[in-house]
Amino acid sequence: MKREQFSSSLGFVLAAAGSAVGIGNLVAFPVMASKNGGAAFLIMYAFFVFFICLPVMLAEMSLGRHTRQNPLGAYTEIGQNRAWRTVGWMSVITPFMIGVFYLVITVWIFGYLAKSIMGQLNELAGPDSFGVFINSNELFVYMVVVIGLTFLILQGGVKQGIEKASRILMPMLFIMLIALVIYVMTLDNAMLGVKFFLIPEFDKLTGKVLNGALAQAFFSLSLAMGILITYGSYIQKNNNIVHAGKMVAGLSVLVACCSGLLILPAVFSFNPDIQLSTLSESSISMIFTFLPKIFLAMQADIGYFGASFIAGFFFLLVFFAALTSLVSIIEVPVASLMDGKGVSRRTALYSLGAVMILLSVISALSFGRVEMFSNLLSYGGVNKSFFDLVYDIFYETILPLNGFLLCLFVIYRWKKHNLDAEISQGNSTFAGSLLQKYVNFSLGTFIPLILAVIFVNTVSTIFFGKNLLF
Ligand code: TRP
Repeated sequence: MKREQFSSSLGFVLAAAGSAVGIGNLVAFPVMASKNGGAAFLIMYAFFVFFICLPVMLAEMSLGRHTRQNPLGAYTEIGQNRAWRTVGWMSVITPFMIGVFYLVITVWIFGYLAKSIMGQLNELAGPDSFGVFINSNELFVYMVVVIGLTFLILQGGVKQGIEKASRILMPMLFIMLIALVIYVMTLDNAMLGVKFFLIPEFDKLTGKVLNGALAQAFFSLSLAMGILITYGSYIQKNNNIVHAGKMVAGLSVLVACCSGLLILPAVFSFNPDIQLSTLSESSISMIFTFLPKIFLAMQADIGYFGASFIAGFFFLLVFFAALTSLVSIIEVPVASLMDGKGVSRRTALYSLGAVMILLSVISALSFGRVEMFSNLLSYGGVNKSFFDLVYDIFYETILPLNGFLLCLFVIYRWKKHNLDAEISQGNSTFAGSLLQKYVNFSLGTFIPLILAVIFVNTVSTIFFGKNLLF
């Protein structure tokens, strides 16, 4: 069977942007930026995106388009030995396991959306509602809906599923985001929030902050997850990879900045005296415990119905962002099974889906409901649940390792001239350009070095409780 392709460069850009734009852009980024130097942070973030992440992005897209394979197939075909094949396996198991915990988070978001619409905002804003919600039975009802939607999109394939969903959901996401920004700007004290988000404070940019900014930029762009290799394998030969990569990076940064203009004004209109240092940097606690309170407080102005409407609107926006990321990450193992075993999309989806659902249910039960999963083991001096374990191993630890190996693979195994030749197809000005020299040099030297340092430090911090750098 002929491999499916995106119908155009724009189709790829929207799908890849759908993958990149997630709760990280919408919530983690604005909080991180405002606490750590405002515009100074933004500038550094954009710098990292274009000078460190973009080369990796181009490498992944080219590798996918060249081999017309999923990551396992690509590493096997070009690597030609057991070691690289193992790396290939890691690049499909990692997205599978990230899918497991991201599914759980997406289900929570959908639950909050449903409950806002059903008029239960006051319940969501209560003190321990989140803890109660994630251990409730209704969670499994929401899980069925989210799994159904995800399967429906993936079942449609590349053009009729992934691309079509992105073409509908992404423009809606942008419009909703802008509408919400306009609304929060009308609130009292909104400008105070804008000020904290945009006034630069360069002295706040410590090594630790920069490290956090780089990690956020790298993983938020879906790098090292095999997604861009897989989506890259669906790009047409005459599409311009450099142009598409820049668009994806630009859209992701743009959404992150707009989210800052949404979250910060909302926070300051809720409490103009709030100390930014008291805000949690975890997106989870921000979305599920703090923001519902802010939405509920809006009822003083616009009534309970209006406040519920705004909350529902916001959760719908976050849900769209999460759904397109979830779809992208599950497509990686699905494509691997289809390519590797020659099975149909449906068979691949159902067999992987069954295992994934089982593991997601275990993750969902690991917040206190089932003691064995909740206190699975302890490392780095902290008790960890099944959910924590999957997150720590696959998201925090293996991703930088995969990124490091990918750079070495592309430059030293696949070789620079092959990378250049692939990028040059559909881009007549790449050969001999400054960009080409920069991409070749950076991917072979300091980018893998930085990723290796992040990997070693993460292992030491998470598993041994000792941060080597800061
Ligand atoms: N962009 C996501 C976020 O901001 C992180 C991410 C990138 C992701 N690719 C993903 C999450 C794929 C899940 C699946 O939250």
